[in-house]
Formats: sequence, structure tokens, C-alpha cells
Amino acid sequence: IRVAVVFGGRNSEHAVSIMGAGSVIKALNESGYDVIPIGITTDGRWVLASENQSYEIEGTKLPEVEHTGAELALPSGGSELVVLEHGKFPELRDVDVVFPLLHGPFGEDGTIQGLLEMAGMRYIGSGVLASAVGMDKAYMKALLKHAGLPIGEYVVVRDRDWRRDRARVLKEAQELGWPVFVKPARAGSSQGISKANDLDELERAVEFARRHDPKVLVEAAIVGREVECAVLSQLDDEPPKASLPGEILVHGDHEFFDFEAKYYPEQMSLRVPADIPDEAAERVRELAVRAFEALGCEGLARVDFFYRPDGSLILNEINTLPGFTSLSVAPQLWAASGLSYPELLDHLIKLALT
Ligand code: DAL
Ligand code: MG
Repeated sequence: IRVAVVFGGRNSEHAVSIMGAGSVIKALNESGYDVIPIGITTDGRWVLASENQSYEIEGTKLPEVEHTGAELALPSGGSELVVLEHGKFPELRDVDVVFPLLHGPFGEDGTIQGLLEMAGMRYIGSGVLASAVGMDKAYMKALLKHAGLPIGEYVVVRDRDWRRDRARVLKEAQELGWPVFVKPARAGSSQGISKANDLDELERAVEFARRHDPKVLVEAAIVGREVECAVLSQLDDEPPKASLPGEILVHGDHEFFDFEAKYYPEQMSLRVPADIPDEAAERVRELAVRAFEALGCEGLARVDFFYRPDGSLILNEINTLPGFTSLSVAPQLWAASGLSYPELLDHLIKLALT
């Protein structure tokens, strides 16, 4: 079976995607798959990854897709005409399945999924709609709320509102109570996120988030422990299954589970199963599956919660393409639930081919 692993991409989670690809490519090679590694550079060029491509974070230096590989005939600036031959990845012959291992905009947001649909390719993970909704926190929350899932209070700050009606926006956001978390609507790995304790900080936080996305969310801060659960589609029309929940333990001096805590060495650990009562764990798993189904996800997703001191749960978000190194949370949760990293990949490939 020939698998094209696509990684990198035009967004701020470029490096995160490359780290995941490193683990995936290694595991697939070891399992005997024929792997084609395809990198997307930060300026959007598609290259057949060279032998020298680095997939690791070194200290605090993040990996980047090297321009040195053979360039593939895919659009870089949007002006070139690409002919998609049905069932064929452009310029690559006989790929059975594509793993779009891309996080964030231009990857996790339905765009590459749409391209693959148009080309008649099979691919791992959620389709166009679930990916698009999962990427946009405003729509994600609207759908989760509609499904009756417990989410926190929030305000959406649209570009025009911010430019024309800032005073009203600030007032609405202030009504959430301090502190608040301010996030780009479409980003990941905590990029562009900051905490605000007053109006001045709020204004700065919105400007900071707007560097990633003109659409911003202001969320009421939730006091609670970070509990995460992975959900996986099953074969033969079985309903999706939830992993054991795990708890994120952040070490060192981080005000929240920020980018550095997520990816720099020894800044976090995962406790599986989470040290919460059985009842709460069962509820996490039930809510995680409901969120997965509410968005119409496929393949694998990770659902993030806050477990509050009173024992209640708030669903923070769902990630349709969660971090994918062998040490990332979702693969670790599955490993602890009895499905090893290579088995998880086999399963995702089987799902994509079914
Ligand atoms: N957005 C990152 C990759 C995650 O959710 O794990
Ligand atoms: Mg998260």
C-alpha cells in the first residue's frame, strides 16, 4: 500500500506538522508501507521531501520544510492551472491513500480535503465540512452548543465589529468577567492566544490574536484541570470509540497550556488514565463521542475538556487533526487504551480505504 504523507504547510503550525510526519513516516516504513513524504513549504510550494529533511525540534529550533526536494505541480500562488487526474495525486502515480498531516489553516480546515475529493483520492481523517467547522472555533462552538454539549461562555469578535464598533465589543467581552482568554478563531497549538485581566490587556490581546486571524474569540476563563480524550471511527458501521481520558500536567512557569508547554522538552506530561472519578471519566468519553458525531468527524479526533472543582465538565474544543507524533496526546491515549501507534496508523489507513 502506497501512502503519501503531506506535512508542513502555510501556517503557524508548520513545524508541529513536520514533527508528527517524522513519527508517522518512520512507523509506516517499519510496518512495510510504501511511503511518499511530501512537504509543503511555508510559502506553499509542494516538494518531494529530500533525504536531509529534519523532522525534529532541536532545543527550541523548530523544523521547516526544505526547498531542496523535487517540486510537485501544485498551485503555489493560485494562478497556475492544475489538472487533477481522477484517482491520481498530481505528478505522483498510484498513491492508494493520502495522509494530510497538516494542522491549522490550509490543511486541517477542509481545504486540502476538498482538493483530495476533487482528485478522487482516498485520505485519512475528517472530510471537508467537519474539518472546516473544527478549524473555526466560532462555528465549532455553535455546533457543539446546538448539540447540547457543555461549552463555556464566549464572544465572537468579527473584523468589522473590531474596526467599527470596538467599544461595544469590549463591553460585551467585559461582561464575561475577568480574566478572559483571547484566541484567533482559526489557529492551533495555542498560537495567538493570550490571557487578559482588564480592558487594556483585552485590547492588546485582541490585536495579538488578529495577527493570526481577523476573527477572534473572547472566552470566559474556566478554572479546571485539562482532561483530553481521543475518539476513533470504527470499521463495519460500529459507532466511534473513545479512548481512556488523560490529564495534561503542565510543568514550569506557564500561565496556561501554551505553545512552549506543548512542544518544548519536558514542559508537560500526560497522566493516563486521568485521576478523576470513574463517573466523570465515563462522561468525558460520552461527551467526546457526541462532539465527534455532532461535527460529523471521521478517523481520529481529540476532544479537550476542563474538569472543574465541582466535578462538572466543560468541553473546550475538538481537534480534527490532533498532534500526531508518537508521543503526542491522542496517540498516547490510544496506546494506553490498547492500540499501539502502528496499530492506530493501520486502523486509520483501513478506514480511509473502506
Ligand atoms: N493543533 C494541535 C496540533 C493539536 O491540537 O494537537
Ligand atoms: Mg486544544
